[in-house]
Amino acid sequence: MDNCVLVTGGAGYIGSHVVKELRRKGCRPLVYDNLSTGHVWAVKEDELIEGDLGDYEHVQRILHKERPLAIMHFAGSSSVGESVQLPELYFRNNVINSFNLLEAMLSCDIKSFIFSSSAAVYGDPQQIPIPEDHALAPVNPYGEGKVFVERALRWYEQAHGLRYISLRYFNAAGADPEAELGETHNPETHLIPRILDVALGKKPCIEIYGTNYDTPDGTCIRDYIHVNDLAQAHILALEALLDGAPSRIYNLGNQRGFSVKEVVDVARVVTGHAIPVRESSRRQGDPPVLVASSERIKKELDWKPHYDDLKRIVETAWRWMKKGKVEYQK
Ligand SMILES: NC(=O)c1ccc[n+]([C@@H]2O[C@H](COP(=O)([O-])OP(=O)(O)OC[C@H]3O[C@@H](n4cnc5c(N)ncnc54)[C@H](O)[C@@H]3O)[C@@H](O)[C@H]2O)c1
Repeated sequence: MDNCVLVTGGAGYIGSHVVKELRRKGCRPLVYDNLSTGHVWAVKEDELIEGDLGDYEHVQRILHKERPLAIMHFAGSSSVGESVQLPELYFRNNVINSFNLLEAMLSCDIKSFIFSSSAAVYGDPQQIPIPEDHALAPVNPYGEGKVFVERALRWYEQAHGLRYISLRYFNAAGADPEAELGETHNPETHLIPRILDVALGKKPCIEIYGTNYDTPDGTCIRDYIHVNDLAQAHILALEALLDGAPSRIYNLGNQRGFSVKEVVDVARVVTGHAIPVRESSRRQGDPPVLVASSERIKKELDWKPHYDDLKRIVETAWRWMKKGKVEYQK
């Protein structure tokens, strides 16, 4: 057995950053991805197996051959708005395909699993910052799917001895500080790259959905976490599982919220561009404030975020987007 870690969705935004970190740590990341939203260029020098998690036999064949130490499961569909329009797509890709993967891994006696969960499991929270034991009350099929998988993991653990760490990310943001990797979704739904698209001249203005929320400036507040800090958390989770740690669920955020208007202001400073805004009505199912308590992972896994400053997060995204515009985006 070598130090292979199978990374589903490793050609995507967050997965590719984790793959880079795994390689740096001396692991052999093996990416399994159907390239539906991922990119071949994001895999760099690592191995990429093109395949779909819906293809149980293929997944099982790969696992049987490669015998990874652990699986990191990023693959999935992640547009909240789309999940409301197409719940069947989200339950198939995020729930049924996750169950396929779990079944295939158990059939190969692989028992360490790291899952990409989300703040969407909490819905509209009653308590800020949100602790992990807050009630789960998702308000869209995307969040509901993450809850299904988390709940199932507990039963797989009890029945089959699977150990897992579920990481509930808040708003992943920023890019590889070396600007080799970054966020490139089409269409882009995340706030920071959408704002930076305006600074690049690709869009005339940034739309702000809702300016009458019960927040200091009326716009929604979110907790932005740098993708490299997420990557570090995955490495710590892997080490913990391989050391025999029990299954756990951790939030991942900076415990600090920024409003949409504040993010636009920071982007103006970073880019030197005026970034015009257009105010429009609220989107359905957008909670006013989502801020994580990340005390548990800090305490238990000694996780320390290095990019807890929004300006630095936006700077890394900006460097990537200026480069990506030239090299990758037609
Ligand atoms: N980006 C965020 O802010 C955020 C926040 C919370 C949770 N998450 C979760 O993190 C994970 C990664 O998110 P991301 O932003 O990197 O998304 P992404 O779309 O960039 O990456 C997902 C990857 O999975 C692949 N994929 C999708 N369906 C597949 C399938 N059936 N078989 C094989 N590969 C498949 C895609 O091609 C892509 O490379 C997702 O599970 C998402 O729900 C993301």
